[in-house]
Amino acid sequence: MPTQNRPKLLGIAGSLRNARWGMGNKELIESIKQIPNEEELFAFLTEESELHLNNFIEAGRKEGKPFLEIYKNLKSQKGNKGLSNSEVALAAALWSAHKKDVDIDHISLSEYFTATGRSRKIGELKEMILAADGLLISGPVYFGDRGSLVHDLIEMIRHDPEMHEQVKGKLYGGIAVGAKRNGGQETTLIYQMLDMVALGFEAVGNDSDTTSQYGGTGLAGDVGSMHKDQYGLNTSMGTGRRMGNLLRRRSYNREIEGPVNVLFLILQESEDIAKRGIENLLKECNGKIAPTIVDISTKNIIRCLACDICPTDIDVDEVYRCIITSEQDDFETLHPSLLDYDAVIPVAVSVHNTDKVTSNYQTFIERTRYLRRGDYVFSDMLTAPLTFEEIGVREHYSIRMLTSMIRHHTVMTKPMIGHLHNGDLLNKDQLFTEFNDFVSSAHRLTSARLAEIDAEETVKYNPVGYVLSADKDKEDERLQKRKSMTEGRKAKMIKQAKERLKPNEALV
Ligand SMILES: Cc1cc2nc3c(=O)[nH]c(=O)nc-3n(C[C@H](O)[C@H](O)[C@H](O)COP(=O)(O)O)c2cc1C
Repeated sequence: MPTQNRPKLLGIAGSLRNARWGMGNKELIESIKQIPNEEELFAFLTEESELHLNNFIEAGRKEGKPFLEIYKNLKSQKGNKGLSNSEVALAAALWSAHKKDVDIDHISLSEYFTATGRSRKIGELKEMILAADGLLISGPVYFGDRGSLVHDLIEMIRHDPEMHEQVKGKLYGGIAVGAKRNGGQETTLIYQMLDMVALGFEAVGNDSDTTSQYGGTGLAGDVGSMHKDQYGLNTSMGTGRRMGNLLRRRSYNREIEGPVNVLFLILQESEDIAKRGIENLLKECNGKIAPTIVDISTKNIIRCLACDICPTDIDVDEVYRCIITSEQDDFETLHPSLLDYDAVIPVAVSVHNTDKVTSNYQTFIERTRYLRRGDYVFSDMLTAPLTFEEIGVREHYSIRMLTSMIRHHTVMTKPMIGHLHNGDLLNKDQLFTEFNDFVSSAHRLTSARLAEIDAEETVKYNPVGYVLSADKDKEDERLQKRKSMTEGRKAKMIKQAKERLKPNEALV
């Protein structure tokens, strides 16, 4: 068995309403670790959420004191009881991560970035971040975006060259809590994910059990109300589980031999700009990558019909399971070339003169629905957008690719954006560096995935499964097919683990 260091996930709460600080953080973590099951977790969260409301009442709300006085009284408390809304969601996520065999910790940004704008104990904050393998940031939605505490954290990392270098490759996940149903939880998570991957983090959303989106999305306005939002708690726990599973897999410290298999999907092209751009990037890679380049932009891809049951069937990945089998559509022929990679890079070219542009961007993305709902065929692949954009063309493909691809249960890294002007690529060196970072991440992720298969003989590895519909799954034959699908994936992984992992030094 390989030796495994227990990875650490640091939960970061980002609200001035935080109820925990100082020793209150440690006490919270100890309490979370003691909770044996979900039922007791929800009871704990309810109690702490209500305690937080009680903190407000005791601090002066019951006497109708002005808020500034209440605020001062709250801050003079010990910071060891109650949880703010974003802390409730974070505690749920940390509990789930801990259940996946990772170590957890909790800090409140309000301890480091004060209400008056002063920063305190920044060395300590930096140390905590650098000691962690992953950061799970939970904060309130302010104006459809993060609040200034989380903003200051991101700026701190951005402006500190040492931190910026050392956070590269750490894992990131997010939770956003807002007062309204469409209050901006998703915009907050997407902007934050864009910023964190730009800093070099590898990002994930919530897991497949909670349908793999951008992270935890809480709905809570009033103080002490987050515990009532079961859906928000579920997505937060899904984020914790996703991070826990990945952190654990990454901690085996194994490495693969040979190249990573990377699929380039050219979704929008103009005069071979994407093709040449990819070839130039590959020249510098010295065998670290085995590429497959598929030009989707000139294929015939008709629209997704939004059929009621997608995919048409439960089956092994090799079977094409979209309802569209028309001769005017190339997807069925493409299907085999979309399987069995370590990483996938969607590619698009954005130019002012659209005369020579060929594109299937949107139709292709919508047609991947059967791959997502068909048990997340792209699950745990590394992904990052690659775009070549003339200055001033604002098609935002790098952002749109991130929002669509993360829903395939992938791991996201920094979008690679080539800036074009008058036919020249202006940021060639930067693009090469970003591409090299992508390749390193792909090696790390592939090694992590295969290492656990090798270490645990597949006990822990469960290929993700999507519950299509209760009726479908009830049928025995389909259940059998689902079993074949998961077994098929496992068998492939076991074979790959044997063939691709370097010998385990602990055993040699
Ligand atoms: C300055 C400010 C802006 C806010 N903007 C939004 C918003 O855009 N959308 C939303 O749903 N809630 C918004 N809220 C509400 C908070 O996100 C919500 O109360 C949340 O539960 C606070 O979490 P906390 O208790 O952990 O601080 C805003 C609150 C404040 C103070």
